[in-house]
Amino acid sequence: MHVALTGATGFLGLRLVRELLARHRKVTVLAHAESGGALHRIMRFYELTDAPQELTAELADRLRIVDTDLTQPQLGLSAAAYRELADGVDVVWHSAGNIRLDDDPARLRRVNVEGTRNVLALAAAGCREPVVHHVSTAFVAGARHEGVVYEDELDDGHGFENTYERSKYEAELLVRAWAREHRRPALVLRPSILVSDVPPHPELPEHPLQFIDDMLQTVLRGVGRPQADGAPLLVRLAGHPRAHLNLMPVEDTARVMVALGARERSGGVETYHVVHGHDVPIGTLTAVMERLAPVRVEVVAQRPVDASPLEAATDLYPGFTPYLHHRRRYDDTRVRCALGASPSRHRVDLPYLLSGVLPPQPEPASLLSGGSASLP
Ligand SMILES: NC(=O)c1ccc[n+]([C@@H]2O[C@H](COP(=O)([O-])OP(=O)(O)OC[C@H]3O[C@@H](n4cnc5c(N)ncnc54)[C@H](OP(=O)(O)O)[C@@H]3O)[C@@H](O)[C@H]2O)c1
Repeated sequence: MHVALTGATGFLGLRLVRELLARHRKVTVLAHAESGGALHRIMRFYELTDAPQELTAELADRLRIVDTDLTQPQLGLSAAAYRELADGVDVVWHSAGNIRLDDDPARLRRVNVEGTRNVLALAAAGCREPVVHHVSTAFVAGARHEGVVYEDELDDGHGFENTYERSKYEAELLVRAWAREHRRPALVLRPSILVSDVPPHPELPEHPLQFIDDMLQTVLRGVGRPQADGAPLLVRLAGHPRAHLNLMPVEDTARVMVALGARERSGGVETYHVVHGHDVPIGTLTAVMERLAPVRVEVVAQRPVDASPLEAATDLYPGFTPYLHHRRRYDDTRVRCALGASPSRHRVDLPYLLSGVLPPQPEPASLLSGGSASLP
């Protein structure tokens, strides 16, 4: 069985490559031609995450890199290269995407909607009738704040919090229509917000929560540092006091996805919520902010009318702020029935989240000298 994967250089894609290579001798990487250097970036990921050297050394032989542009017809390949690619695969994993929540709608649609259309066309063209494994998001549920979201649901009745969600929703509609039209099975995998405790590194894709740090640093540069007395600056953020978000470790996500992908297909479209068993309360997210910058965060019911320049500027990433109102949960019964276990092996708490967004801390002198240490 031969598999091809889009988005292999991404935050999730790198982990999917690793999981797929644990099951398949060779994997075709449909790399983003414009960015280049896919093999080197995958090798650096292996090195930076302490993979055994022999695995890293094998990558050049086990990965076939095909430079593509998903936004182009035939993925930007020549007719001959496209035909050869299509006829050589049994499974197409589609993880590439634009995850900037409030990017220009046309740019988001080009990658997330038209890109998916082009990947589906590749699968339709293949003589081995490849199956499609499409990476969607639990956030296709849109602007619904409460209740339980089930895996089979897909509707736009609540509207969307941002353009990204809408584009992913439209992409899922395309997958469903493709499966009906071609009578092919498809797997739709909906992770929640992906996180990791691997510390940030310039050669690794940015952690999705890194924007919190970027935003706070930008804001503080703009409005100046804290008062002379050293007291943290107050930031009132509009949200719900009992809001919670589902944050799923990216390593577990890839493991669960590939395990689901290895199961016998039942026909039609199977949709799975790849989510953590426990949500993270809003207080943990505000604690992350308070550790990243000299601020004190208070969650308030509505955006303050007398917002300080700092508070006004924290809305620099408006696509995310509505999530501070969310109290909904994602039902993942189908994943649990399929795999029979809790999908995540990690506890997602403050220390976990901080290690994924803070630069690696030097070892404290007390540890080196054998003294007792406390958590940073
Ligand atoms: N991150 C999350 O929290 C999250 C949550 C739920 C669902 N998801 C979904 O998971 C998938 C992967 O997300 P991610 O976090 O891995 O995103 P990411 O780190 O931004 O990676 C995106 C990937 O897509 C590739 N790509 C972008 N435009 C392309 C194009 N025109 N042609 C070919 N490849 C292109 C990128 O290639 P280069 O880097 O080489 O340019 C990169 O490999 C996406 O479908 C996303 O919607 C993500």
